[in-house]
Amino acid sequence: MKALVLAGGSGTRLRPITHTRAKQLVPVANKPVLYYGLESIAAAGIREVGIVVGDTHAEIEAAVGDGSRFSLQATYLRQKEPLGLAHAVLIARDYLGDDDFVMYLGDNFVVGGIESLVGRFRGSRPSAQIMLTRVSDPRHFGVAELDADGRVVRLEEKPREPKSDLALVGVYLFTPAVHEAVAELKPSWRGELEITDAIQWLIDNGHVVEPSVISGYWKDTGNVADMLEVNRLVLESVERRIDGEVEDCELIGRVVVEAGAVVRGSRIVGPAVVGAGTVITGSYVGPFTSIGADCVLSGSEIEYSIVLPRASIRGVRRIEASLIGHDVEVTPAPDTPKAHRLVLGDHSKVQISS
Ligand code: G1P
Repeated sequence: MKALVLAGGSGTRLRPITHTRAKQLVPVANKPVLYYGLESIAAAGIREVGIVVGDTHAEIEAAVGDGSRFSLQATYLRQKEPLGLAHAVLIARDYLGDDDFVMYLGDNFVVGGIESLVGRFRGSRPSAQIMLTRVSDPRHFGVAELDADGRVVRLEEKPREPKSDLALVGVYLFTPAVHEAVAELKPSWRGELEITDAIQWLIDNGHVVEPSVISGYWKDTGNVADMLEVNRLVLESVERRIDGEVEDCELIGRVVVEAGAVVRGSRIVGPAVVGAGTVITGSYVGPFTSIGADCVLSGSEIEYSIVLPRASIRGVRRIEASLIGHDVEVTPAPDTPKAHRLVLGDHSKVQISS
């Protein structure tokens, strides 16, 4: 069995924060989301992984290398244009040969990995096994309609009026039967060869398509609350590890201080992680906080937040439930003279907090 990991797509899109990097490298608890996918593929006993890359290939290749760090053998497959997920299967045809494979979208996160799903697939080998999860706005996903017995009847890509709230998770298991389906596809309304249509083709042609409904799924849709929540879930399972330099501090519970980080005169209440090269002085870091690499935090307080690499926060009390991007600077507003200038009409009632 092989894995086909999709790590293409464009690198720049405007969100609450601007991602100028490949979306598969967005960090969750200081680790690119793609790494969790590769680790779960390796944990499922798969060794050979084809990584489909596009414009951001240099960044992805620099991050993953030959795959040996994950106990995988990585082969890069170049997709010149983002023509769809099924198009990626098409260009990987020779690489995949006649093997079964798991197709994994590199920007998807499945809490708890895919070991048991792969185990189930190996046991029964349906033509396709798909994962579904309940989402609040299915219009951004492929959506499944199930019958009373829980069988998949219909799949629809990004429907305007979704028939259910069951979204397709970006992890699919296939036998080589999918190649026949992919060869029959025509581009969708968005001009892409949709894997959703390939699975629909399998259903229409009498193949077995097995669904399973999971929880603990995340994808970066630009929603900060979701991002904080997945960060929390991952931090729930970190183990305490202090490899950096710590002086005159109180570190409580599951705190990770990476080698090369310096923490002085501060209090950190876990679970929390502090990236390499970061310097924290005279500050408080509260639970469920990930501070990226090469950040500066001085005289500040922060909790339940994500700070991306190279950000600096000085003299700010207190930051909560926040996402702070790469290279951001946060400082207190300068003290301005406290005065109100008022022009109030007759009989006005004004409340002023001062
Ligand atoms: C793709 C699939 C969609 C699926 C989603 C999960 O969407 O087409 O069916 O629900 O991945 O990440 P895309 O990322 O191409 O918008």
